[in-house]
Amino acid sequence: MNDALSVIGLTKTFPGVIAVNNVTLSFKEGKIYGLVGENGAGKSTLIKLLTGAEKPTKGKILIKGEQAEINSVEEGELKYGICAVFQDDVSIPLLSVAENIFLGKESIFYKNGLITYSLLYRASEEVLKRLNLRIDVKTQMSNLSVAERKLVHIAKAVYKNPKILILDEATAPLSRTEVERLFSLLRELKQKGTTIIFISHRLREVLEISDVVIVMKDGKVVAEIENVNLSQDKVVEMMTGTKVELAFPKRAEKVGDIVLSLKGIKLDNILNNISLSLHEGEIVALAGLRGQGQEKLLEAIFGLEKLDGGEIYLSGKRIDISEPADAIKNGIIYVSDKRDYEELWPTLSVLKNVSMASLNKRSRFGFIKLKNEMKEVAEMVDFLAIRAPSVLHETMYLSGGNKQKVALAKWLLVGGKVMLLNKPTDGIDVMTKMELYRILRDLAGRGKSILTYLSELPEVLNLPDRILVMREGAIIKEFKGGAVSEKELLASYYGSV
Ligand SMILES: Nc1ncnc2c1ncn2[C@@H]1O[C@H](COP(=O)(O)OP(=O)(O)OP(=O)(O)O)[C@@H](O)[C@H]1O
Ligand SMILES: [Mg+2]
Repeated sequence: MNDALSVIGLTKTFPGVIAVNNVTLSFKEGKIYGLVGENGAGKSTLIKLLTGAEKPTKGKILIKGEQAEINSVEEGELKYGICAVFQDDVSIPLLSVAENIFLGKESIFYKNGLITYSLLYRASEEVLKRLNLRIDVKTQMSNLSVAERKLVHIAKAVYKNPKILILDEATAPLSRTEVERLFSLLRELKQKGTTIIFISHRLREVLEISDVVIVMKDGKVVAEIENVNLSQDKVVEMMTGTKVELAFPKRAEKVGDIVLSLKGIKLDNILNNISLSLHEGEIVALAGLRGQGQEKLLEAIFGLEKLDGGEIYLSGKRIDISEPADAIKNGIIYVSDKRDYEELWPTLSVLKNVSMASLNKRSRFGFIKLKNEMKEVAEMVDFLAIRAPSVLHETMYLSGGNKQKVALAKWLLVGGKVMLLNKPTDGIDVMTKMELYRILRDLAGRGKSILTYLSELPEVLNLPDRILVMREGAIIKEFKGGAVSEKELLASYYGSV
């Protein structure tokens, strides 16, 4: 039997980088392939070549043994049944969920020259049903959380009954329950013969779902191995080329005075009487199932939501935050998880993206002191080990993990005592994650207070000094870091302890 898909000597170069370097691989029907590699290893570029989003510099793509010409994503879908959920969000934020689902296919819903919205909505609901998604298809895409948007894209791809389904970091924003639901769907598709390529930095998930693990490094495939008795350590070793110890940094030995405290924070139907305190030098994680108010709480503290009640105190003094400017003035900064929408301007350089939020610090009489800008940005790039060919490189060409660091760098230059971080490690490779945990600890050690929503269990268990579990807009449980087992923590998510 011919392979469902194979590539021979596939190569893609960009000025100064060989993103995919002479890759030869084959994918069989009814198998799930886990594709892993460090940030910038070339995974997404390989996917872009397979789907027709980018043209290879060299090499061939074969579908069932026949050479394929894939000139666009559309052609890849229609002619060859290759459907992908891309890593970067490609939604159009101002269109509705339904319009996004059928983007480019609107003509199906034309009747007598008019769009019949009732048909469009009904069809969209059908699409979402497959993943049991309860999302209003009429709502604007921009109203959805990052996770919900991802789920919409996954549902859309699955609905097309692809022969080859590719998920590029699609589970990064998802919670465990959603991942489990998705995995059972993937297993169903696999039974029916679909070939699935699953890319993730969550190695545990990769090992859970894949039949074969493919490891990329510096654009090349360095290992392709049946998933039998494979351990995470082994995969990391293949990814990096050396043995790496994945250890979380030590927790704070002691923390300082209370810096931020919230009393009775209310947000209509979303946050229900939240009180908490955050100490100097402390890292506190918000945890729980997804969508229990964790992100809204961070946004509310930063002034992105109008509170319906409650008080915010900074070092014991009541402060008023009605918009982000008030928060920033008070030394509170927020790093959004909407990297592609809210944090970075993709066509601007690393330099401009990092410096843009702190321009007023460097400007005098309306002129920006360029020398200072360059110096401060260079220091920050160094501190966070941002890997870009140069600071003048546009951020859209950086790999996912490096984009995340650029967003963090931007806010670190703004400065502030309290850092609110919304899923800062999503899409980041294991090693960079460890680096980032160390950076966060280092920042806490220098007196910053960090309140962060984390979605991955190992990091919730191992990073923070305290864990606050949220459910239905309230904090229902508090654990001291290191004093809770995974089982107990998960049980608390469901409210059963
Ligand atoms: N359009 C582009 N122009 C220039 N360089 C690019 C472009 N797209 C990707 N690159 C570079 O190619 C390399 C591979 O990037 P790619 O996005 O494929 O990595 P990845 O393995 O998907 O990483 P991540 O895990 O962070 O998503 C990186 O060095 C990246 O900066
Ligand atoms: Mg990628």
